[in-house]
Amino acid sequence: MTDHNWMVVEEGFDPERVAHFETVFTQGNGFLGTRGSFEEYYPGKHNSTFAHGVFDDVPIFFKELANLPDWTELFVDLDGETFSLVSGELLGYRRCLSLRDGLLVRELRWKSPQGKISSLVFSRFISRANERLCLQKVEITPENYAGKLLVRAGLDGGASNLDLKHWDWLNQRQQAKTFTLELKTKGSGIKLEMSQILCCSDKNAAHSYWNTFNHPTQAIEKVLKEHEKFTVWKAVEIKVAPFEQESPAGKPINLDEVQWDAQLAAHRKLWQEDWQRSDIIIEGDDETQLAMRASIYHLLIAGPRHSERVNIGAKTLSGQGYRGHTFWDTEIFMLPFFTYTNPQIARNLLSYRYHNLPGALEKASKNGFEGAQYPWESAADGREVTPVWVPYHKDPSQMVRIWCGDVEIHISSDIAYAVLQYWKATGDERFMVDRGAEIVLQTARFWASRLEWNSQTQQYEINNVIGPDENHDRIDNNAYTNYMVRWHLRTAVGIFAWLKTQHPAEFKSLAERLSLSDEQVAEWADKAEKIFLAFDEKTGLIEQFDGYFNLKTLDMRDFAGRTDSIQSILGVEEAAQTQTLKQPDVLMLMYLHPELFDPEIQKINFDYYTPRTDLEYGSSLGPSIQAIMAARLGEMQNAYENFVRAAQADLKDVRGNARDGIHGASAGGLWQAAVFGFAGLKIGEQAWSIDPKLPQGWKRLAFKFWYHGKEESIDIRAEGKR
Ligand code: BGC
Repeated sequence: MTDHNWMVVEEGFDPERVAHFETVFTQGNGFLGTRGSFEEYYPGKHNSTFAHGVFDDVPIFFKELANLPDWTELFVDLDGETFSLVSGELLGYRRCLSLRDGLLVRELRWKSPQGKISSLVFSRFISRANERLCLQKVEITPENYAGKLLVRAGLDGGASNLDLKHWDWLNQRQQAKTFTLELKTKGSGIKLEMSQILCCSDKNAAHSYWNTFNHPTQAIEKVLKEHEKFTVWKAVEIKVAPFEQESPAGKPINLDEVQWDAQLAAHRKLWQEDWQRSDIIIEGDDETQLAMRASIYHLLIAGPRHSERVNIGAKTLSGQGYRGHTFWDTEIFMLPFFTYTNPQIARNLLSYRYHNLPGALEKASKNGFEGAQYPWESAADGREVTPVWVPYHKDPSQMVRIWCGDVEIHISSDIAYAVLQYWKATGDERFMVDRGAEIVLQTARFWASRLEWNSQTQQYEINNVIGPDENHDRIDNNAYTNYMVRWHLRTAVGIFAWLKTQHPAEFKSLAERLSLSDEQVAEWADKAEKIFLAFDEKTGLIEQFDGYFNLKTLDMRDFAGRTDSIQSILGVEEAAQTQTLKQPDVLMLMYLHPELFDPEIQKINFDYYTPRTDLEYGSSLGPSIQAIMAARLGEMQNAYENFVRAAQADLKDVRGNARDGIHGASAGGLWQAAVFGFAGLKIGEQAWSIDPKLPQGWKRLAFKFWYHGKEESIDIRAEGKR
């Protein structure tokens, strides 16, 4: 394995791509995530550090992850001139993120306005070995001068999200060589303690401490000779009160004793273990190999290892997009990666939904329904946090109504589906008994009360919803939703019976606690069979929702060369009058439930819906699912084209919005496309199988996965040998 397949590289500095690279170079450890922003000032930089679960109040979006003080802040004054990319001249610039261990290194040669040339190497990592610890280093060499060097680094309590400040100052103190800043979020009252130490390679260098209010700063000063290399490094400990107890890896740290080399070694060891479990090897396609690893890397740094009270936002911890909110992106797109490579993280993620059942019960009841209705967007406590009105991105003086929080209700079945998939893959019966069953039953109960009886057709309908394709909102009988609900109700009936026979004691207490009776569940079984399911016997087509076939068909070729989504080009109202999909909907259903549709039916629907789907600029969730369906049906060119689209979502910024954060669902979908699409992995109750179909040029596809507590290995060669 050559290292270029492990390195994301920025060669030369391009001011236009600052925000994009900030996202791509995000580092993290499953608790913290820090964007790859520069240490020093740069206009418009969007530095952020988010910690899972640290939400605070915000207008319009209800809750958002609060941006922590920037632990990477570091200014270098070189003989009286402050290093910055805004002034002087760059003689060399290279930045590299090593996916092997999450080490970010920026190497530069900089000529100051007064002509002094220095070499600077910044390195940093967020420790995998101790979740609270972040380390940073700068190596400085004056190349054509001698003079005084001053390095300043502080913790700025005035950190904000865009323009909103979330932190109130509580206290700050200095003890020996470290100082600590204590803050509290304004609305949610979460306490944060950040401590810092600044060290250097020369014991005789002068240290100073500036106890500036809300921005305590340390500095190191030394007179350097020409060509004398000097290293300054910094360690920061971040403690978040509610999560302190949960993290066995987050032991208290004595910052005085922290050593860069020892910490890096411990950190690397854990990364090595992570990659042993989760790498996907692709031979014969280097660009895709790198993108695959970058996706896995971003999932690994986002997955909560030690808390079951938090979840992954649609943009992971890498940006302010969607404010850190969790969507179905977790269960349907990202979760399988964890289920198959790190089941404990998958369990944590599903447990978050279990702990947040009260929010879902509350939502159902507020809407006049029974059981649990999960929020479309979820933050700390599982209450609905989807914005209702947002400023229109093309003209912020106009407001756009967002209906997803009201009617994008398929998420409750998506979560139940994920619970079942997790169980099937891991065999984790304890989880199912203690938590999974309750999620499935309470959400089934919601559906039973949500179904609407149509006395004319003598069927149940589900009206006024949004399916996965959000180009069409407030539609009736979305096929994805209706089929999922039938599956869900049938499954719940099965789980109820299974619990009763296999775990009678737990069954009894659960049924009592939830007041669930045999009659009620029998009613679910009856309702499931009477749900309206679209299917045209003559054509084999499934109509995406009532009236979809009557909408105008667009010829996507008329929009050749576009750089925006069809919805954005036509406007929300007009796009809704066309058949253009933002992302697969009927095909999404067929991906999740292949057992319900013969391959010929899948192919008929694939051929129909593919040209109608905005795979280029619609949702980033689309291409990976399209790739899997295409691979399944042997449409290898379409499969590869869409796989590449998903692979490039962030590295190449194909949608132009990577600045807002990593597309976590696309990353998870890419993993699924390789594993379930190209390798054709199928999981049964008792066994698994593969049905490989490699894209042209791929020589090898290899990975490991966990099945029922045992690690399995797949190694597919182009010749077809395993
Ligand atoms: C997609 C949703 C997705 C959300 C968050 C939307 O654009 O249509 O399916 O859940 O983004 O990623």
